[in-house]
Amino acid sequence: MTTATAHPNIALIKYWGKQDRPGNYPATPNVSITLSGLVTQTTVQEADRDQVTLNGQQVEEDKILHFLRLLRGSFQISPLHIDTHNNFPTGAGLASSASGFAALITAINAHGGLGLDQQMRSAWARQGSASAARSVFSGFVTLAPPDWQATTLATAEHWPLNTIVAVTNERAKSVNSTTGMARSRSTSPFYDPWVKSCQEDYTLAVDAIARQDFELLGETAERNCLKMHSVMLTSLPALAYWNPATVGCMQVVRELRAAGTGVFFTIDAGPQVKAICQANDVERVNAALQSVPGVQRTLICGMGNGAHISSL
Ligand code: DP6
Repeated sequence: MTTATAHPNIALIKYWGKQDRPGNYPATPNVSITLSGLVTQTTVQEADRDQVTLNGQQVEEDKILHFLRLLRGSFQISPLHIDTHNNFPTGAGLASSASGFAALITAINAHGGLGLDQQMRSAWARQGSASAARSVFSGFVTLAPPDWQATTLATAEHWPLNTIVAVTNERAKSVNSTTGMARSRSTSPFYDPWVKSCQEDYTLAVDAIARQDFELLGETAERNCLKMHSVMLTSLPALAYWNPATVGCMQVVRELRAAGTGVFFTIDAGPQVKAICQANDVERVNAALQSVPGVQRTLICGMGNGAHISSL
């Protein structure tokens, strides 16, 4: 029995769309921060047949079963019982598949003696869910050309940012990222310009992180997020992940900023808003988000470790 721990990550420059080749490669270069506080713990052990339980409930997770089939194309792996627990809402735009696949490959690697190093685990995690490639690493993590190998760009110590997650709806999202991306690609008139424009956003963000330029990072990340949501909203049928509280949180972040607080927001394929700020502003940003009607709770995160074994 082997247990691995991984944390979700939040993309500041987003992955939305896939390349036209096998291996689940993003179409857009992306950069994220790995979060602390939100935790996925995955335990694997031998079983008679493959079985997956998520937060104590048995589930039929096609993505996990597909991932196991892929792995078995390269390694001999006996049937497994996979037991996963998230301490945060699952499948609701909080990157549970990122931490999920990062923890899963880390647990299977240690349990089965696959001999994968961190880079190889990340490449496998990408095939489960591309954002998971980033959760194998800590700090600021890039997944970008030329090799699309995730790697730590800067450590948490370099620039320890904080993320406050405003949870506006705990339920799982109606359209998952994989389906949503395919829909955007085939129907949104903004898809191609989106893919083209991401390279510039990525370059700006990498530079902002290197120089700890909060204003540039915030401006670039927020705009990149809104571009992605423009693609989502102009897909057919529209991928409308926001609710009134999501919009309320965005407005509060803008008001805080107008009043001099360094903060910006980002939103993934779900209605939760993530506000990013520096340590001395956490209390103020948290209180402001909690006061938005429809916010159910907030989660305060620092920067987390990459996926690792927590017990053998
Ligand atoms: C909006 O990694 O969940 O969170 O590779 O199809 O599993 P698949 O997609 P996934 O997509 C994440 C999309 C996003 C942006 C991001 O995390 O970069």
